[in-house]
Amino acid sequence: MPIAPARTQVGIIGAGPAGLFLAHLLHRQGIECVILESRSHEDVENTIRAGVLEQWTVDLMLSLGLGERMLREGHFHRGITLRFAGESHHLDFEDLTGGRRVTVYPQHEVLKDLIAARLASGGEIHFGVRDVKLHDLNSKRPHITYTDENGQQQELHCDFIAGYDGSQGPSRQYVEGRTEYQHLYPFGWLGILVEAPPSHHELIYARHERGFALLSTRSPEIQRLYLQCGPTDNVADYSDELIWSELHQRLETVDGWTLTEGRIFQKGVIGMRSFVCDRMQHGRLFIGGDAAHIVPPTGAKGLNLAVADAVYLSRGLECFYRTGQQTLLDQYTNTCLRRIWKAERFSWYMTNLLHTNSTESPFEQRIRLADLDYLVHSQAAATALAENYVGLPLD
Ligand code: FAD
Ligand code: DHB
Repeated sequence: MPIAPARTQVGIIGAGPAGLFLAHLLHRQGIECVILESRSHEDVENTIRAGVLEQWTVDLMLSLGLGERMLREGHFHRGITLRFAGESHHLDFEDLTGGRRVTVYPQHEVLKDLIAARLASGGEIHFGVRDVKLHDLNSKRPHITYTDENGQQQELHCDFIAGYDGSQGPSRQYVEGRTEYQHLYPFGWLGILVEAPPSHHELIYARHERGFALLSTRSPEIQRLYLQCGPTDNVADYSDELIWSELHQRLETVDGWTLTEGRIFQKGVIGMRSFVCDRMQHGRLFIGGDAAHIVPPTGAKGLNLAVADAVYLSRGLECFYRTGQQTLLDQYTNTCLRRIWKAERFSWYMTNLLHTNSTESPFEQRIRLADLDYLVHSQAAATALAENYVGLPLD
């Protein structure tokens, strides 16, 4: 039997970037919320995922008073390097976008900062919950049932529910009448973490006939690198020797530049797909982040797009509680989708531009190289890439 039902204004499912940013945005407006998370606190803070923050995400963290450690430990780059056809080209985003930068501050560090600040201000995050189910979504009093980490049945009554529970969470299934769009790619990424000093002061994205490679960073002592691989490849088939050999060949296309090796202490394969759910609300339920859309990682949009949904939902909820008007909430799906489809386009474009695959004809290969050549020699083309990479402004 459930204990007496608990009550809050907004029930949030998922303590990922979307759920945690939403909680902070609501807290700033004096709106109460409770977060339910299926994984343990430790698991959430230790899962290695995205690394790059768009400029407005950085600004948002600062405006919420959450950016102190990011300013100290994050890496701020003027731009990125594109490497292809044996040449290296620097794109200076600060110049191209009027001062916006690339910030490398990993997702799990963002989550640590957001969770710590939420708990410090008395916010409720229930980790390790199971069997989350949503009820009465078309009423003004929806509720969530779940089993807590002690195996106790619980009920949470709310005014609204945010289903921000990632690609595998249950919330999306409650959105009736949705259409889902999906695009699969014939490759994945093998990601590694390495104990080594940086090989370069900025990110390098390389297109090579052997496949894509990306050099990123985590700290002065730890580097993050990615290698294009097959979509269902097994990490066990990638020895350290094979990984280094591929990385050297794909990245060292420029005279005088060498990749610094180190001990590889983490390896994982990331699948790639594009996915959009074209309806993001049902009654008093609003879904967002990876629950509603997925982008391939090239271009680092996933985390940022999830946070944008949280901003739009917080605006709608703030307007509702202040004025009783539901207009912004009614527009939530459409407002989010305008940004989502642009990020989908950009991630799809960057992915196709930089990866090679066996189904690509020699003609298509030439077209991609021409596209890259155009990008690095045309101010207009470079600006288009730069403004998407550092993040389009929020509507
Ligand atoms: P999530 O971060 O998935 O958070 C959702 C939360 O909901 C999770 O903590 C989950 O445990 C919880 N949850 C799920 N089901 C339930 C339930 N039933 N009850 C309660 N809670 C539940 N993006 C990039 O831009 N660059 C990258 O390099 C990159 N690498 C990635 C690597 C991996 C392996 C993955 C999976 C994603 C990667 N992404 C990357 C994407 C990026 O991390 C996501 O877009 C981002 O995490 C989305 O945030 P979110 O809050 O919507 O979802
Ligand atoms: C990282 C991930 C990306 O997808 C990307 O485009 C750039 C950097 C990273 O994890 O550092």
